Amino acid sequence: MSADKKLFIKTYGCQMNVYDSERMAEVLGGKGYTQTDTPDDADMILLNTCHIREKAAEKIYSELGRFKGLKAANPDLKIGVAGCVAQAEGEEIIKRQPMVDLVVGPQSYHRLPAMDDAIQTGAKALDIDFPEDDKFETLKKRKKGKRAPTAFLTVQEGCDKFCAFCVVPYTRGAEVSRPSDRVINEARELVESGVREITLLGQNVNAYNGHEGGLAGLIWALDKIDGLDRIRFTTSHPNDMDDVLIEAHGTCDKLMPYLHLPVQSGSDRILQAMNRKHTAEEYVRLIERIRDARPDLLLSGDFIVGFPGETDQDFEDTMELIRTVNYGQAYSFKYSTRPGTPAAEKPQLPEDVMSERLQALQALLKSQQIAAQDSMVGRTVKVLFEKKGREDGQLIGKSEYLHAIYADAPEDALGDIRDVYVAEAGPNSLAGRLVA
Ligand code: 5AD
Ligand code: SF4
Repeated sequence: MSADKKLFIKTYGCQMNVYDSERMAEVLGGKGYTQTDTPDDADMILLNTCHIREKAAEKIYSELGRFKGLKAANPDLKIGVAGCVAQAEGEEIIKRQPMVDLVVGPQSYHRLPAMDDAIQTGAKALDIDFPEDDKFETLKKRKKGKRAPTAFLTVQEGCDKFCAFCVVPYTRGAEVSRPSDRVINEARELVESGVREITLLGQNVNAYNGHEGGLAGLIWALDKIDGLDRIRFTTSHPNDMDDVLIEAHGTCDKLMPYLHLPVQSGSDRILQAMNRKHTAEEYVRLIERIRDARPDLLLSGDFIVGFPGETDQDFEDTMELIRTVNYGQAYSFKYSTRPGTPAAEKPQLPEDVMSERLQALQALLKSQQIAAQDSMVGRTVKVLFEKKGREDGQLIGKSEYLHAIYADAPEDALGDIRDVYVAEAGPNSLAGRLVA
């Protein structure tokens, strides 16, 4: 087999997929593939897909359609679908789009080398099992060598919450935590390769139970790693924010003051129909407790508008919750029917009602985000510089609050954490200068 094959991976959806794509590239590296950033000269194209909303899934089929010309020009080109659409639709994908050679679910991608052997003989390969073997154990150790200063590290997968709208418990399976010694070893290796900030990932990361004391216990264990300066985690469920984790926000210096804590709705009626298992009031009180521990925390959330049965009053309750909590940033979506989920059985709201509500909700969230950005002007933040900006002499990094920030800085500041005075605020980024 030639040792210089080119692999193009396109990643959709959440950060878990970003992490998985990296691991898939690593495992296929063992088969002689190196990554390329264009599909045009690729020997294999892998789409690492997201199934969370209908639009995300449909996009995959139109994207596959676009590769037809490439496949016609190069019959040896192999096309694979990975991730959550692969898990949910399996063989259907090959039926609907026969030029697809390989379909691999998020729990089986350590088997990609064998699947690659199979497709090279002209066969199709399908693996959407939830195998007994631990994919993280089978995967090769991560490559040593210079890495970017920030990295994702998956510590938990799957979800047992079964929110009525969500496909994740079906596509990603039951909650599983990786044993902490393996997570800690992987973190050490990342740090040895130049990583200074690690974001711990899980569909329900604060339900992590691979270490005594849960996620907080793991965070404190990682806190001991010299050279690791920043720890973040995402995504969390309000009901798994336990006392020790809340406390860690106030006492662990390496744990950054940013928290993504989705609530989805501010109406108790809708929260119950969503099977969220908490009230709006309980969420607001939880936020108060976390802010007591870390007053400058930047809070982020997820919202769904137009869940089946949502009335004008339910929507107004969501708006009121947003006004009460005040978010530094947030993500919001129209409800999207996902086949197989309990909410899919219920009558849907008209599209125009959903659009109108989403617009109003996004306007409110945007105004809060802009106010939060503006409030940073005149402050000094600590920035971990990650990459060069578009302009000469400019670097881009992240503040402790996860603001993207531009600053004139020498190239040797890349990978360093420096004090930056914030001079200007835009809706999505800040600009500043190094404090001497
Ligand atoms: N429709 C709309 N948004 C959804 N999300 C999850 N499932 C759906 C759905 N069926 C949103 C939730 C979740 C985020 C990752 O995606 O807000 O927190
Ligand atoms: Fe989906 Fe998150 Fe609910 Fe789990 S907790 S079912 S991943 S929305």
